Amino acid sequence: MSALLEVEALTKSFGRGARRREVLRAVSFAVPTGQVVGLVGQSGSGKTTTVRCILGLDRPDTGSVRYDGLNVAAARGDARRRLQREIQVVSQDPFTSLNPRMTVADIVSEPLRIGGVRDRDRLRGAAAEALGRVGLASDALTRYPRSFSGGQRQRIAIARAISTRPRLLVCDEAVSALDVSVQADILELLKTMQRELSLTVLFVAHDLAVVRYLCQRVVVLADGRVVEDGDRDQVYTAPSSPYTRRLLAAVPRLNPAAERARRAARQQAARLDTPPSGGS
Ligand SMILES: Nc1ncnc2c1ncn2[C@@H]1O[C@H](COP(=O)(O)OP(=O)(O)OP(=O)(O)O)[C@@H](O)[C@H]1O
Ligand SMILES: [Mg+2]
Repeated sequence: MSALLEVEALTKSFGRGARRREVLRAVSFAVPTGQVVGLVGQSGSGKTTTVRCILGLDRPDTGSVRYDGLNVAAARGDARRRLQREIQVVSQDPFTSLNPRMTVADIVSEPLRIGGVRDRDRLRGAAAEALGRVGLASDALTRYPRSFSGGQRQRIAIARAISTRPRLLVCDEAVSALDVSVQADILELLKTMQRELSLTVLFVAHDLAVVRYLCQRVVVLADGRVVEDGDRDQVYTAPSSPYTRRLLAAVPRLNPAAERARRAARQQAARLDTPPSGGS
């Protein structure tokens, strides 16, 4: 099985002298092409630092990130532009990640503009198509982020991420700031996008329950080290590390029947209403 993304023995420290802190201590894992891999760990375990190394925003002290065989830290020129197009990110906070002064059309088409597309019709067309995919009507194009709910903003952020037709999507706590019911909608949307666009996904979260729904593989990070890396079912039923066992014990039991009933009630309410132009 070939891996689109290979993270190899990343180490990273911040600070100097007595304040020096090792944040990543030889982090290695792979994201196989076409799969969804969860990267889970408590706050401060090094998840976002790993993501920043993958995106080329931080430089690891040692180790490397390979995307499709390409060393991310060394990529320049055309290779760099290819990475910017093919790797997209959705981050946590839907209220700060969207520029309040830009229309939704400009936000969603921004990665294409950065990639050099100038044709206005093409930019608008791509924005409309991406918005349609995430379940927002095209009247959203001329509006500003402030008039959308948290869940809708996260849909806009996902539309922006898919506008370049990326191959790898990195979600860093993409649903963590949302209400539980909205979380479920956005997770479902991400699952649909992954299938329809054949995306490879690295899904970062501190919540094991959220990851279980979406991911085929799970990597657990603790204090800058990978303590678990395996198939979803193996990790959830027979975790190899005591740390993962403790994390699992702390996961609130989800109640699927209650969740289904709640969803059915919501859908019925939505049907009685006039159909909304967007999702949650
Ligand atoms: N630029 C920086 N300078 C100094 N320390 C940093 C920097 N970036 C991250 N750190 C530290 O590195 C550690 C890991 O941070 P990181 O953001 O990777 O954790 P995380 O797993 O994403 O946590 P969270 O779940 O809270 O998002 C933390 O202790 C953080 O304070
Ligand atoms: Mg983080």
